[in-house]
Amino acid sequence: MFSLRRAISTGALAVLPIIAALLPAAPAHAADSLRDHAAARGKFVGAALATSPLAGETAYRTIAGTEFNQITAENAMKWDATEPSQNQFSWSAADAIVNFATQNGQQVHGHTLVWHSQTPSWVQNLGADALRSAMRNHIAQVAGRYAANPAVVSWDVVNEVFDDSGNMRDSFWYQKLGDGYIADAFRAARAADPDARLCINDYNVEGVNAKSTAMYNLVKSLRAQNVPVDCVGLQSHLAIQYGFPGQVQQNMQRFADLGVEVRVTELDIRLQTPRDASKDAQQAAYYTNMVNACLAVSRCSGITIWGFTDKYSWVPDTFPGQGAALIYDEGYNRKPAYTAVHDALAGGGTTPDTTPPTAPGTPAVSAVTASGATLTWAASTDNRAVTGYDVYAGTLKLGSSASSSLTLTGLSPQSAYTVHVVARDAAGNLSAASGTASFTTSAGQPGGACAATYKTVNSWQGGFQGEVTVTCATAVTGWKTTLTYPAGVGVTQSWSSTLSTSGTAFTFTNAAWNGAVPAGGSATFGFIGSWTGSGTPPTPVIS
Ligand code: XIL
Repeated sequence: MFSLRRAISTGALAVLPIIAALLPAAPAHAADSLRDHAAARGKFVGAALATSPLAGETAYRTIAGTEFNQITAENAMKWDATEPSQNQFSWSAADAIVNFATQNGQQVHGHTLVWHSQTPSWVQNLGADALRSAMRNHIAQVAGRYAANPAVVSWDVVNEVFDDSGNMRDSFWYQKLGDGYIADAFRAARAADPDARLCINDYNVEGVNAKSTAMYNLVKSLRAQNVPVDCVGLQSHLAIQYGFPGQVQQNMQRFADLGVEVRVTELDIRLQTPRDASKDAQQAAYYTNMVNACLAVSRCSGITIWGFTDKYSWVPDTFPGQGAALIYDEGYNRKPAYTAVHDALAGGGTTPDTTPPTAPGTPAVSAVTASGATLTWAASTDNRAVTGYDVYAGTLKLGSSASSSLTLTGLSPQSAYTVHVVARDAAGNLSAASGTASFTTSAGQPGGACAATYKTVNSWQGGFQGEVTVTCATAVTGWKTTLTYPAGVGVTQSWSSTLSTSGTAFTFTNAAWNGAVPAGGSATFGFIGSWTGSGTPPTPVIS
């Protein structure tokens, strides 16, 4: 039998006009919205919504209603919200989500029926038989309440049943009921809402890995036993510092090949705060990758972002020092991640990109040696993403970098260089040149035979320990090296050398006992520095 809801949830494009006719008129949304582009690709693009801003903030409601064609309750349909005491159901927050979706022509994904978290202690304290009955009753009541509602098209029946290694999670469900509670929950959900898509949802199952393989094997085995598993949810709580998961598209495809729908259910891509242009660009690239993976797999029905504004996100509360994981900033401004999702849904490269990146900052020069120097500059921004930088001395290209710094090598000794940086994007658009920076490479140490390298051995608030190794190509009987620091740096103590100071230029000359260095040998000295900043101590310019 043809089911309208099933057709919607699998993203069948042809029925979308019918939904619009059946549901109350949605407020107008721009033809360029995320939802319009997603619908044109036969996918949904959604957001998890939080109860209180949905009730009280116009900007929140407007974006939630106009940019997305799918929503998930971030918390309002969880067990602690819907059945805080046994058989005492509380629907106001869940209904608010469903009503909002109905008003805005959106589909709702129910999250979540059976989970070890956000489940009241009265449930956790039940014995096995009572727990099984309470689970079946909860599913019957919660899924049953919305079974006839055309907005609610799917449910996370079980959530996070695996531990991080891909074994069954040792939750109170598993301890009391064994793994049979999973099949039991799916059967109860099918009975409660026969035409909802029923999903198993988890995190760290986005790429091909041990945990996603365990999920794959479970889904395959449940379906072989006629357990009604229709759908797999990849939560997709990603972080730029951990890299993009491997083989996401292939992973989606192997689930699709089992005959199940795949959804990205809780996408957010966090970073170590504060944001900057280069982290934003990497985050945007990850959003692009995730959208493109789903677009490439026909049974991937769409993507739900876990929130949409950084003003309301679970990330800073859960992952200390991290945040800014979503596509709008805290002031509801679109971030590069928004553009990434938008452009991927709109078809990516079909419109030629002719916008160049902004000019990079003027490079700062450090660690100048006889043959090299390190340049660091403020990152460029771009309408899509900056893909790299080229460093020039006049028209001579000295090197390229994917990040906003580069250590130049192979320079000539005692030579003056004036350098600038140009940014590139994927379409080959070039930015204007940065400002120029000049430096002169050193001659090397006595006779040009020695070169010094510096490292920070240790650092603490306001202080650090530095160490310099002087390596000589030919034998010398003495050496000296100067470390020049920015203002605010002092040297309070040194050893294995004698120190003379001129402002923040500190010249270290060999001690009587370590001046003689054989060919190929080295001498090392150290010092204690003080500085007024915080974070990483400054790196000296060596000459
Ligand atoms: C999170 C919510 O975002 C928070 O507001 C709440 O305090 C805890 O739960 N996996 C899930 C989601 O399946 O339900 C979780 O949501 C995030 C991780």
